[in-house]
Order: sequence, then structure tokens, then C-alpha cells
Amino acid sequence: MEVIEKQPENSLQEKLISLVDKISIASVQDKKNLIKKDDFLLLLQNKDLIFDYTRNKANQIRQENFSNKIYIRALIEISNYCKNACYYCGINCKNQNIQRYRLSSEQIMECCKTAYELGFRTFVLQGGEDIFFTDEIICKLIKSIKEKYPDCAITLSLGEKSKESYALYKQAGVDRYLLREETANSEHYQKLHPKNMNHKNRLECLRSLKNLGFQTGAGFMVGSPFQTLDDIAQDLCFIQSLKPEMVGIGPFIPHEQTEFAKFPSGDLNLTLFILSLIRIMLPKVLLPATTALSSINPEGRTLGILSGANVVMPNVSPMEQRKNYALYNNKASVNEESAEGLILLQKQLDKINCKIDFSRGDYQQ
Ligand code: 5AD
Repeated sequence: MEVIEKQPENSLQEKLISLVDKISIASVQDKKNLIKKDDFLLLLQNKDLIFDYTRNKANQIRQENFSNKIYIRALIEISNYCKNACYYCGINCKNQNIQRYRLSSEQIMECCKTAYELGFRTFVLQGGEDIFFTDEIICKLIKSIKEKYPDCAITLSLGEKSKESYALYKQAGVDRYLLREETANSEHYQKLHPKNMNHKNRLECLRSLKNLGFQTGAGFMVGSPFQTLDDIAQDLCFIQSLKPEMVGIGPFIPHEQTEFAKFPSGDLNLTLFILSLIRIMLPKVLLPATTALSSINPEGRTLGILSGANVVMPNVSPMEQRKNYALYNNKASVNEESAEGLILLQKQLDKINCKIDFSRGDYQQ
């Protein structure tokens, strides 16, 4: 608001403000007045002019919908084996320099126990696309977790599967599924992935997850190699039409043993700006301040929350395996990023007048 008073003569700024307001209005009108790609692009090109206004609006919308509550999810990294060779990812199958591990069902149950005792009521099972974890093994595991912790939500983040597999997971009791599209532009997708990976299939997976009734998470990395602002605008359009219940947005961070080792990390402020646009577009979305954001800036998590994020996902994987789940270098997994650090987390949240919410934190219409 301050910005308007200071520079009433600046017509570009007025246009940008009315565009941000339009995103907000469109979000409650459902399907009417969807924002066009060129409008998102204009905002991205001029983010510095509209950054504070957008962030304040996003932060306000977060408070209106969730008051001062921040949901926590226990992240369990179940395997770093992966059959894919995504060029950006440190656990891609071509990387011979990492020690591979796979948690046993007993170890995963143990992680759930630790997390439950700490107060977590959502378990996120994330891993590479590890062929060891057949549908049968996954479903058995899900059923055991649900049986022992019927008051908890389960989120899976295990990559692309067939519609039939997703249906089995749903039947077994999975509540949520995270699968970032990585980019909505198929040409860009092909620059990030080898030929055997297919953009159409990725998008179909997301549609299937939505249709099966999962709380579905989409998203992308900010500043991934070859990404343009136009690509990001396309992702924003994609997310606007998909209306996922969760959105994962974090900066790209290079990993030294990947093809993209020499590319720079994604920009902090651009990431924060995009988080704000997503919060304004989808007021009730579950939006984590991601580990990648904390990894590029020690204040990343707080800044993310002040830009509209309302979820954090501390790591509860066994300590000795955490270093091996390095999707990128210098990944935060200790202190506030870990489960042991819930007290530290609360202290961090105190400073911005927020508090941990220990409920399941499902998406509410
Ligand atoms: N930098 C940041 N994020 C990454 N991811 C994978 N590799 C990297 C990286 N180098 C993200 C992808 C994936 C999620 C689990 O982690 O977006 O979907």
C-alpha cells in the first residue's frame, strides 16, 4: 500500500498492483478471469517493483486462512536408489559416487514412531524411483503405518507410477501424493531429463492423482538450467488450472556429480516472489518453505513463511543416511531442518509470531 502512495505517477506499478489484485479476485471466482501467461510474465519481469506489495498480500492471505499456524510433516527419505537419470538430481542412477541405501520396513516404522512421539501427524515417504519398492511392498507398508497410527496422514513422493499403482496406494490409505511437474514447458522438460522420460506422462500422472482424489502436490525448481521467465509463467498457468492442494517450490541447487554441476543456484527473491504468487492464486494451498530454500539462505524458512508458505517438513530419516540423500550439495538436514530441532523451529517461528500446529493439516476446501 505504501508503494502506491509514494509513486502515484508510476503507471506500470499501478498496472502490476491491479494484476496482483486480479490474481486474488480470480482465486475466489473459480474459473472466471483466469490470469494469462503474459500477465504472469509481466509480473515476473518487474518483480522488484511489486515485490513488497505481493509479499504483504500473500502473508496476509496466509494469516486469514491459517492464522499463525504452521503445519509440520515428518520427512522420511526411504531410498536413494533411482532408475532415472534426471540431469539436475544428485541421486540420479548415473551417479556412481554416492553410497546407495534403502530403509527396511522396520526402519521406516521406527522413523514413524520417533516422529509420532515428537508430535508429527503426517508422514511423508519420499524416495527415488526404486524398483525394489513394488506396489505390494508399498501397500503393505502403508497398511502397517495406518494400522498403527490411524490418526495420521500419509504422503507419498515416489515419482511416476501407473494409474493402477496410484489407485492401489489410495486404497491402501495414502492421503496425499507429491509429484512436481518440474516444468510445464515440454521443451524445457526435455533439457532437464533424458530421452526416456516423457513430459506428457508426467502431466498425466498429476491428472491421475487428482482424479483419484489424492491431495495432490505439483511444483517446480526455480532457476533450473535453461529455465526462462516465460517457462515460469507457463508453470504458474499450469498450476492455476490444475489447482493442486499442495505446491512444492524451491530453488535449483547444483550438485557437483551431475551434468548441471556448473550451473548457478536459483535466486532467493525470485523463489520468494513465486511463493507469494502461488499463495495469492490458491489461498488455501499447502505450501512448504522447502529444504532447498533453507539450504541457500539461513533465513530461508522464515522468509518463505513471510512470503506465504505454511508448511515445513523436518527430516526424520535415520541420521547416518541423511548425507546420502543429497539431491543437491549443502542440503540442510540438521538443526531446524531436522526433527530433533522442533524446539529450535518453534523458537524461529516465535520471532515471526507463528507457531507449530500439530494436527494432520489436511487441505480444507
Ligand atoms: N536442486 C533443487 N531441487 C532439486 N530437486 C531435485 N534435484 C534438485 C536440485 N539439484 C527437487 C526436484 C524433485 C524434488 C524431490 O527435489 O524438484 O521433484
